[in-house]
Amino acid sequence: MSENYILGIETSCDETAAAVVCDGERLLANVVSSQIATHQPYGGVVPELASREHLRAIVPVVRQALSEAGETYESMDAIAVTQGPGLAGALLVGISYAKALAFALEKPLLTVNHLEGHIHAVLLEEKQKGNFQIGFPLLALVVSGGHTHLFLAGQKEHGWTYANIGRTRDDAAGEAYDKVAKLLGLGYPGGPIIDALAKHGNPRAVKFVPAQIKHGNRGTPKAEQTPYDFSFSGIKTAVLRYVELEGMREAVTVRQNALAGVGKPSAETVLPLCDRKTLDLVASFQRAVVQDLVLKTLQAARESAARTLFVTGGVAANSELRQVFTSEAAKEGLPVYFPSRRLSTDNAAMIAAAAYPKWLAHDFAAAEFSVEASLALR
Ligand code: KG4
Ligand code: ZN
Repeated sequence: MSENYILGIETSCDETAAAVVCDGERLLANVVSSQIATHQPYGGVVPELASREHLRAIVPVVRQALSEAGETYESMDAIAVTQGPGLAGALLVGISYAKALAFALEKPLLTVNHLEGHIHAVLLEEKQKGNFQIGFPLLALVVSGGHTHLFLAGQKEHGWTYANIGRTRDDAAGEAYDKVAKLLGLGYPGGPIIDALAKHGNPRAVKFVPAQIKHGNRGTPKAEQTPYDFSFSGIKTAVLRYVELEGMREAVTVRQNALAGVGKPSAETVLPLCDRKTLDLVASFQRAVVQDLVLKTLQAARESAARTLFVTGGVAANSELRQVFTSEAAKEGLPVYFPSRRLSTDNAAMIAAAAYPKWLAHDFAAAEFSVEASLALR
């Protein structure tokens, strides 16, 4: 069988990304243009600015991916693009561009669910390592700035099937990292900086009640209820209350002023601006989030008799989360896989990889498809 080259395009949030993947298992180029510097002054993603930045970046990013892969527009067999979930205006840039490209080149177009992309980032890298022995059912925790989902995945002829058995009732875990970082004056995005600072604090210093939801399903239609739910808005409020009660406001303002105008502050820049109390708070926050994610995921894995665990999405880049998942899953004899850090956060390699089974199944996009900002994965 000849080799199949898929050009992946991803613009669902604040990264403009393009990648070339051969046969769903060989990554030839992976280009990500981050908008962090644009959104940093606002402490979060501003949708209008995201669309504008995607418009600016999409053409050069795709050109660079093709050039790094040593390929051309004509040598692509298909174009794959993220359809959703994500920011409507941001998704629209990628979709419009992919449609125009596919039309002009007379190539088939494939649509991919962003969450399925995160799952296939893990599969792509395992295949690259020569690991083709993934056991099913497979439990995937997709944990990022916009999502905290548990999917139980099975296999069908060319693709996978998904049952959503858990999700956050409010904030996503990455969102909690970003909001806590913002309220502590640590900059945006919060995950990488809290990850680095937490190593310098005492994770037992501040006691957070485990993020449990007592009546999470109250008022939710039965068809939309999931058995394993998360909630991260409570811990964010608890951090805020701690900051007020412990009189940390002034120190936060001093830090905010010191970091104003620094595009993406490094841990070396931020560490000297943090006192012991802040470092302990950050370490305790991270410990509570990690414990909650690991405990609920492993409970779901046991109860659904999962044979493999994937942990993926931006928060899967977190070092403590990786450590704790690795050691706790090992105790249960459950193989756990993560993407490399560069494929944990948003990228287009995962989109091109997830499109490959659709390419094999000739599951091409309908001509009239459009953005699905709340696209569910089934
Ligand atoms: O997957 P992603 O790039 O975008 C979404 O689909 O949301 O994830 C971005 C999120 C942000 O909330 C960021 O703070 C978080 O992932 N993140 C981390 C780390 N690196 C990125 N969270 C914890 N630890 C990290 N090392
Ligand atoms: Zn994502």
